[in-house]
Amino acid sequence: MKTLDDLIKHSGGKLDGRRILVRSDLNVPLTTEGKVGDDGRIRASLPVLAKLLDHGARVIVTAHLGRPKGAPDAKYSLRPVADRLAQLLGRPVGFALDTVGESARLLASELKDGELLLLENVRFNPGETSKDDAERLAFARGLERLTGGEDEGGAFVEDAFGAVHRKHASVYDIATLLPHYCGDLVRDELQVLQQLTGEPKRPYVVVLGGSKVSDKLAVIESLLPKVDRLLVGGGMCFTFLAAQGHEVGDSLLEADQIDNCRRLLEESGDKIVLPTDVVVAAEISDDAPTQTVPATEIPPGGKGLDIGSDSVQAFAAALDGARTVFWNGPMGVFEVAPFAAGTKGVAEAVAASSGLSVVGGGDSAAAVRALGLDVNGFGHISTGGGASLEYLEGKELPGVAVLETI
Ligand code: 3PG
Repeated sequence: MKTLDDLIKHSGGKLDGRRILVRSDLNVPLTTEGKVGDDGRIRASLPVLAKLLDHGARVIVTAHLGRPKGAPDAKYSLRPVADRLAQLLGRPVGFALDTVGESARLLASELKDGELLLLENVRFNPGETSKDDAERLAFARGLERLTGGEDEGGAFVEDAFGAVHRKHASVYDIATLLPHYCGDLVRDELQVLQQLTGEPKRPYVVVLGGSKVSDKLAVIESLLPKVDRLLVGGGMCFTFLAAQGHEVGDSLLEADQIDNCRRLLEESGDKIVLPTDVVVAAEISDDAPTQTVPATEIPPGGKGLDIGSDSVQAFAAALDGARTVFWNGPMGVFEVAPFAAGTKGVAEAVAASSGLSVVGGGDSAAAVRALGLDVNGFGHISTGGGASLEYLEGKELPGVAVLETI
């Protein structure tokens, strides 16, 4: 697959006069005031944008925010992201009020060398996520036209690692229309993840959290044969505990997954490590009275909202000496203070492990930053949640596969 560096090299280092479309993942949380919360993904997108601008390109960035329903919706506007991007980039950022409409066409045509334009949320157009190939392609043609097309030097750079598992117009179809290049972020993410699927150094320990077993079942099935230990926390541990026959009170439970969990425990119970104690409360609030109880003795009405300190110690012991670690998903409701210690403790243990430590995913990456942990303690913090899990499942990522085509 050709990379952005190939594009630069083959053009003699001069991209002036050329309109280059970049797909970035700028899907960041917004605060209740509509400001950018955790800006990790914007920061991760900067190197490619700066590299293109430094080489004189006219850069058009397309990205999504949240999951609007194929029509403009003010609460999903990328406007606040444009402001933050401009601050972080230290350069002005033009903002189109639509995706491929009048505003985008006018601003794209007026771009000068070394200038950048961000298009409004690409998911405001139903063609972006359509299941109909022709509809997606038609929308991708609109994006292509903004660059002037191949004849006018238009090209596409795929840098939205967090979205490469989506067969969407701005991720997949556009690469079938324009000369396409892999951005540095996608390249680096793939290089790290390859180390987890190739011959990972052992012991290889995976920590999974988050709320639903159903979301993680496929990755659990594909990881279990490869890992030495699988530590399970977060809301999903309660379905495993229920599968062992324990009462879980009012904790999150996916009743239809109990059989799957039971089967996994029967097949690979020697590798799966579950919490031994949990923090329970009647409600999720900053001042909720909490109690730490054995995981096998959750009282009726009690909601398990974090793993307890004994579990943190047990997980840390399993991580000690690991030479490869992958962590995805918080251990509890870390956003609310009384339920943050489990995620913090496990994150610290992941960071302390001496081998390669990879944090996969939006929530876990956000937790690292929100809990004030040193990001440099981790080998790699991925920008892709679903994308990194699908990669580890061994699924083809459409946004990567299409880059392999000529
Ligand atoms: C993510 O948040 O994982 C990516 O930005 C992809 O978003 P999506 O799950 O809404 O496609």
